[in-house]
Amino acid sequence: MSLRVLTGIKPTGVPHLGNYVGAIRPAVAASAADDVESFFFLADYHALISTQDPVRVQRSTLEIAASWLACGLDPERVAFYRQSDVPETTELTWLLSCVAGKGLLNRAHAYKAAVDRNRDEGQDEDAGVTAGLYMYPVLMAADILLFNAHKVPVGRDQVQHIEMARDFAQRFNHVYGEHFTLPEAAIEEQVATLPGLDGRKMSKSYDNVIPLFAPREQLRRLVFSIVTDSRAPGEPKDTGGSALFQLYQAFADGGEAEAMARSFAAGVAWGEAKEQVFERIDAELAPLRERYQSLSADPAGIERILRVGGERLRDEQARPFLAHLRHAVGLRDLAAVHGGGSDTGDDAAKTAPPAFKQYREADGRFHFKLVDGDLLLLQGEGFESPREVGRIVALLKSGAVAPRVDGAGRVWLDDAHIGGLGEGVDPEALLRALERFTEDAE
Ligand code: TRP
Repeated sequence: MSLRVLTGIKPTGVPHLGNYVGAIRPAVAASAADDVESFFFLADYHALISTQDPVRVQRSTLEIAASWLACGLDPERVAFYRQSDVPETTELTWLLSCVAGKGLLNRAHAYKAAVDRNRDEGQDEDAGVTAGLYMYPVLMAADILLFNAHKVPVGRDQVQHIEMARDFAQRFNHVYGEHFTLPEAAIEEQVATLPGLDGRKMSKSYDNVIPLFAPREQLRRLVFSIVTDSRAPGEPKDTGGSALFQLYQAFADGGEAEAMARSFAAGVAWGEAKEQVFERIDAELAPLRERYQSLSADPAGIERILRVGGERLRDEQARPFLAHLRHAVGLRDLAAVHGGGSDTGDDAAKTAPPAFKQYREADGRFHFKLVDGDLLLLQGEGFESPREVGRIVALLKSGAVAPRVDGAGRVWLDDAHIGGLGEGVDPEALLRALERFTEDAE
């Protein structure tokens, strides 16, 4: 199976140059590679969390779909769809909700920030917080797991969400068997952050953006409004720290950037440099702008593209996968109960969480073991009193001290030898099983 890369796009309206250079352009380029299967979707269910203006949801969805298509996303070669056209997403959200730890969701950055703000303002902690905001990470996990994506390109702010998706997937797999691929965040570390008109990072919240599809004249005006220093024509200029130069670099090839650096050193007038930067950017954007105009003028065409994309995915992947997951969790055809009954024993073993057993051996000593279904993970030593065993088991369950496994498979807690790893058991598996006790206690 080829590498599956999934990108979720929040419909937030027409993008600016910073979005283009930092996110859209590299993603579209990456989607053209032969060995990847790309999924791009408009996260309109997610949009409902941040806006309750239906007209705005519709308009932003259209704008952002037209933007990505205008920038060269090819719906023939990538899966391009609207989240709400694949309603299996919401059903999966529920299945995941039932394994997701509430304690983990309590720690989601966006939710925590809302709670902190309320607290600072002396309000009830959850004032104005919808269950939608709280469930944001589960919905996002469903987006990713529904298509068993391997890689999810995201900014730093989204990494926690990918980790949560992994966690939910792991818990589901643990309980119901291996159904989900554990996704990985592909962190966009070195993506260009473009400076805005005032030299700070280009961002809507600084009101310093150049809209991606600004008409030629507006683009020229905005490029001319970029801050520069007051050096006169003929005075050498610094490329370092120059917003104008950085903007040029984001569009020029290496040779062009060098030539521009030379003319900076030779004292080019700011006006002349700006003219060149403007023309260079416009050369790349003019065809995109034109496509954007014609796409936007044909919303029915975009609707068709999205519908087709969504339907294909539903038929080929989402529906059959959900049918399979429904079966896995027990949402089953009642008449099929006497059919393949042979798997029930297996299932029972899978559903039982790891457990500690405490017992007394013939030697009179008290023992414990940790088992996961039929698998012996840890065989405890014998102890004089049940109390001692109880204390060690409680300590292991609490997660307060992690056991250490030495090269000979002996297991230690602090300095005490408490037992041995089960035959063929990976120390990692032991630690993971122990983690479940603390998670389940959250
Ligand atoms: N939360 C993402 C953002 O704010 C958007 C998103 C929703 C997403 N679902 C996703 C991103 C799934 C990647 C995968 O940008």
